[in-house]
Amino acid sequence: MTDNFLEDLLNQMTLEEKAAQLTQVVGSFMKGSSTSGEITGPMEEMGITEAMIENAGSVLGTTGAAEIKEIQRQHLDKNRLGIPLLFMADVIHGYRTIFPIPLAIGSSWDLKLAEESAAIAAIEAAVSGLQVTFAPMVDIVRDPRWGRVMESTGEDAYLNGEFAKAQVKGYQGKDLKNDLTRVAATVKHFAAYGVPEGGREYNTVNMSERELRETYLPAYKAAIDAGSELVMTSFNTIDGIPATGNKELMRDLLRGEWKFDGVVISDWNAVRELIFHGVAEDDREAAFKAINASVDIEMMSSAYVNHLQALVEEGVIDVELINESVLRVLKLKEKLGLFENPYRGADEQLEKEVILSDSHRQTARELATKSCVLLKNGSALPLKKEQKIALIGPFAGNKDILGSWSALGSKEDAITLSDGMRMQLDGENLLIAEGCAIENGTELELHHALEIANQADVIVLALGESSDMSGEGGSRSNIKLPQIQLDLVEKIAALNKPTVAVIFNGRPLDLHGVVDKVDAVLEAWFPGTEGGAAIADLLFGVANPSGKLSMSFPYSVGQVPVYYNQFNTGRPQVAPDVRERYVSQYLDIPNEPLFPFGFGLSYTTFSYSEMKLSHDVMTLDEPLKISVSVKNTGDVAGDEVVQLYIRDISGEIVRPLKELKGFEKVSLKPGEEKEISFTLTEEQLRYHHKDLTFTSDNGEFIAFIGTNSSDVQSVPFRLEK
Ligand code: BGC
Repeated sequence: MTDNFLEDLLNQMTLEEKAAQLTQVVGSFMKGSSTSGEITGPMEEMGITEAMIENAGSVLGTTGAAEIKEIQRQHLDKNRLGIPLLFMADVIHGYRTIFPIPLAIGSSWDLKLAEESAAIAAIEAAVSGLQVTFAPMVDIVRDPRWGRVMESTGEDAYLNGEFAKAQVKGYQGKDLKNDLTRVAATVKHFAAYGVPEGGREYNTVNMSERELRETYLPAYKAAIDAGSELVMTSFNTIDGIPATGNKELMRDLLRGEWKFDGVVISDWNAVRELIFHGVAEDDREAAFKAINASVDIEMMSSAYVNHLQALVEEGVIDVELINESVLRVLKLKEKLGLFENPYRGADEQLEKEVILSDSHRQTARELATKSCVLLKNGSALPLKKEQKIALIGPFAGNKDILGSWSALGSKEDAITLSDGMRMQLDGENLLIAEGCAIENGTELELHHALEIANQADVIVLALGESSDMSGEGGSRSNIKLPQIQLDLVEKIAALNKPTVAVIFNGRPLDLHGVVDKVDAVLEAWFPGTEGGAAIADLLFGVANPSGKLSMSFPYSVGQVPVYYNQFNTGRPQVAPDVRERYVSQYLDIPNEPLFPFGFGLSYTTFSYSEMKLSHDVMTLDEPLKISVSVKNTGDVAGDEVVQLYIRDISGEIVRPLKELKGFEKVSLKPGEEKEISFTLTEEQLRYHHKDLTFTSDNGEFIAFIGTNSSDVQSVPFRLEK
């Protein structure tokens, strides 16, 4: 099928049909949907008529092969030119087999598994009739008050970029037309949605263009370079202009400078929200601004379908603006093979065979095992099977462990921590009590838990936030565990028994009141369908923790935003423990987070040899080779994430104290030693200068290698171009 075919199709379309082609609605608006109703309520409110629906271009949120086929069939019956619908949905960390939340996947530093999990999500979605996923979400996140940090792989531009590429590859594969097990990816939320002021959802984002380019854009760019077919606009403003109506951002930068020729879709109702932001008086002006910015598809508002035609007929916009958007949507349909096969991968039989298969669950378990981060360990972990264990806390048997954005994930499929521990233990050695619910509890529950704890040799506390305490609309000013759980920790700690806390949550928390009271802390995030099995593997030492935080855990909420690649300031602290007054610090808390980026413990120990640089001057044609030997000096096999950072000592623009430039995850048996080497090139030393050029500065640099962003060794070098 050629571009001529698409051009011909475009030429046959009326303006009305074109505007509808650019409109995306939910499945319940469609004929053939099991939830479809009369054209009342929401449709009427949006001013959407039956004729518009017959010409609509895409549908979001509907899943299931049978249902999608039926909607498509009825649509093609009515649609004058036989243009198939596109079906899209949020498949973010799994479809029905749910993987750990993306922030946990970030903590795995395992790009291969990230790609595999995306490929599994894709096949489950594709056999269920979906053709596009609204993922990956690659917003850089530095403020754990914001509930959507759970949906990103973390705070670092480089790491997010690497995960972005892996996920796009996993979702899309190499050939969307012929590989029916894949779906098109949508990188989101363009741009910089992850830094709303005060961590308050949908709030203003304010930064210079230089900062935007430096830190926030590279991860989107990485996804686009990896071939992401779609980009979703963000809800926020950038320098006072909402992204969805931001011509400089979308048409000039994304399309002009980056040459992105795929589909740009607005976020939910974001075109209409231009009115609430205060940059459009009404739907008509909102439509004008969005199409002018080159937003192709309007999701769940109706400014395009109601106003684009008039805007053209009255000469306010050139019809070419609409034509190019429609053509991009048609091209995506063509790329997915929908003109030949409008039902694409939808297959009821395959749904039964593939979804939640054993092998998918196995990968979910593996990824969950690799995503948990051991934050503290005295000697309580690993647990011994002969011990009498009391499992206490609101997450002991809680199935709410899938996390927000878990598509068709069902809590019923989830393996809880108590299920997982029972799989490893004979029943007599495991005593279970909740102690309290997530946010409240009774004396009786507490009393029962203490009774059980008293009988045990070791206590496992299963604590956390419910999944709706993070995710979209889940901003919080208090990032501690609910008081009732802190009280429970206090009472249990008073028993003076070895105690391990396992924490389920969607954001970095202020863990004071936990870390200081227990022997060991395992950050489990929302670990997904196989969560309990994976955590039990780690608790009993069947698997060795290897996760490393991809987002700093603040010392307290007052420190937020806290991230590893901060600037030095003109008055840095001399050292963390030297308290002088007129330096950049807090009087009451340290500057350092409680747990830094890149941090995570293991049941084994690793020793690093002295790092070596191939030479001490880097030139344009002579990159540096930086190497180090890492040895497993403990008794069990383990994985270590070896991290490479740099610092540019003096630039035109102040440079961060550290910038991640590479990492390698290495598996080592006890006593085994491996040499890890990185190549560092001049290109990796470039940054955006005042005039926005992307170049490097001659002069002094430091290379660091370490086990996390703060525990590093360093060697200076110079760049001479
Ligand atoms: C979210 C997007 C999501 C969309 C569709 C919006 O509220 O911000 O991330 O893709 O809904 O569900």
